Amino acid sequence: MAITATAMVVGLIVAATVGLSPVWGAGPRPVVATTTLRGGEQAGPPAPIALAMTPPMGWNGFNRFYVRVDAARVEAAARALVSSGLKAAGYTYVNLDGGWDLHDRNPDGALQPNPKTFPGGIKPVADFVHALGLKFGIYASAGLRNCAGTSAGSYGHYWQDAAAFASWGVDYLKFDWCAIPYHDFPHMSHASIGQVLASQMAQAIAATGRPIVFDVNDWTDDSPWSWAPRVSHMWRTTPDIHDRYASMVWNFTHNVDHFTMARLGGWNDPDMLEIGNGGMSNLEYRSEFSLWSEMAAPLIAGNDLVAMSPATQAILSNTAVIAVDQDPMGMQGYPVASAGGHWVLTKPLANGDRAVVLFNQTDKAATITTTVAQLGLPAGLEYMLVDLWNGTAKDSTGVIAAAVPAHGVVMYRISTSGPSDPTGR
Ligand code: GAL
Repeated sequence: MAITATAMVVGLIVAATVGLSPVWGAGPRPVVATTTLRGGEQAGPPAPIALAMTPPMGWNGFNRFYVRVDAARVEAAARALVSSGLKAAGYTYVNLDGGWDLHDRNPDGALQPNPKTFPGGIKPVADFVHALGLKFGIYASAGLRNCAGTSAGSYGHYWQDAAAFASWGVDYLKFDWCAIPYHDFPHMSHASIGQVLASQMAQAIAATGRPIVFDVNDWTDDSPWSWAPRVSHMWRTTPDIHDRYASMVWNFTHNVDHFTMARLGGWNDPDMLEIGNGGMSNLEYRSEFSLWSEMAAPLIAGNDLVAMSPATQAILSNTAVIAVDQDPMGMQGYPVASAGGHWVLTKPLANGDRAVVLFNQTDKAATITTTVAQLGLPAGLEYMLVDLWNGTAKDSTGVIAAAVPAHGVVMYRISTSGPSDPTGR
């Protein structure tokens, strides 16, 4: 394991601030050096390093395969990411979910990849993924077990596990939230405990010196958006998504209000995509993709990439919508109207354009109307609206209206072409 001097220093300073708890466990620990910084102020937890400057994009098999994960399936998904054109569209991470490791650790306390499903261990799989020009992600749990109950959790072994992940070439860690031994932290709220655990894993990652996207998958009611931005690159805002319209809408409506927390390098996560898994219509999947992109959410495909339909592939690789998600300004879109389930969302973009989603949550087709003023755009200009799902363009100087099918969206990118011409020419 390569530990850079900078990472060691960061590790030394931050370790001193929280003291050592049962979470540190075995493995390489920093020596406690000092509790104060030069000006006498206390050091805080490590700011996450500059990674994930746009929302992470990739694949994770959980929504389709649950914990039935093996090396061959992951490698096939990585190959399909390339051959389908999704890699070229921006999907980068190939992530393991729970179930890759055994129920118990080995006598040295190390996690054990399941020898039946990962016969060569994890490193050869990471190497395979890297050889395709992709990045590799792994799954661990902050508590004593993973969430399916099949495998050991990381509690008591954060440093040891982070070091192992770094040595395997892991680029992304999904840190799940199950079997947390709350009784080890008497008198602390669950949210405070969550913050402590996430900070400690962040420190363990920092000490490895390897850039690893840190995904705090605390799906409980700990309000992770109020503390995880300080230590991680993304955090869950909702319970697990299911492949049903009502579930997708639930996760949308419970993520959208946290828009002020999103920023470059730190994203609200309404959970992985269900597109292509069969429980919703393609129109509903388009809505999911549009809403997630408007909210600058991580785009982690959760379908079987090997058996993907052309319709699924077309949704996942809509580069105009992806450009909204990946916009370099990093603002999450926010609602300016939602009465009666007729949503209007606006997202400022780096070049001055706006991305607008008109979402009809209801079961009846409707015309959804907004104005440039409501979207936060100056009046007196002429605007061009490009429909990001059919590529057509139209002009507007004030009112924007569209017929939106039940459960559907119309998504525009709006740019100005200069002052409006009062003569109408
Ligand atoms: C949940 C998590 C899911 C998946 C699952 C694995 O807690 O939110 O995304 O990882 O555990 O059992």
